[in-house]
Amino acid sequence: TVELNMGLLPLEWLLGTWESDEPGEGCFPSIKPFRYMETLSFSHVGQPVINFMFNAFHAETKKPMHRECGFIRMQPGTNRVAFIIAQNSGLVEIEEGELTAQRLELQSQAVARTSFAKEPHVQQICRVFQLRPDGKLEQTVSMATDNKPPTQHLHIVYCRAF
Ligand code: HEM
Repeated sequence: TVELNMGLLPLEWLLGTWESDEPGEGCFPSIKPFRYMETLSFSHVGQPVINFMFNAFHAETKKPMHRECGFIRMQPGTNRVAFIIAQNSGLVEIEEGELTAQRLELQSQAVARTSFAKEPHVQQICRVFQLRPDGKLEQTVSMATDNKPPTQHLHIVYCRAF
């Protein structure tokens, strides 16, 4: 095992594997509400960078659905955090925000997509990760698209799976 880079100590609570305990809830004004399961994994190799993978599955059929992977960096000496993200839908994004205690609040700073991505296109993404007092991790995602103002898309709670 490689020692954690000191710069990442404020994010140590995120490291490891997390699994949704109950299905997460997906919604948006233009879609049918849905339920999904998701596994998150956050790891490091000693660099001041966290590597992550998020894999979502259909709650009933277990069919693979949305997937994201990327990197997390912190601006040295600050509580500023950046997520560098690639999604299987053809979207890439940079999200930045602040870490306060065990809560991360992020806003997309840049969003780009493949030339043939489905419409409507996402214009803006906000997400919050929060370690709850009961030790569970919670993620909430809102987004704005070409034709809808910022609205919640996802809410899910994870248990530590080590
Ligand atoms: C629909 C974006 C994560 C499942 C959508 C739509 C967009 C979108 C733009 C189309 C909305 C519309 O038609 O008005 C995103 C972004 C995500 C994300 C930016 C991450 C930041 C997820 C995750 C799941 C998911 C984790 C879990 C399975 C769905 C489903 C639909 C949908 C089932 C409706 C059917 C469809 O359009 O494919 N999402 N999504 N999404 N999303 Fe997400």
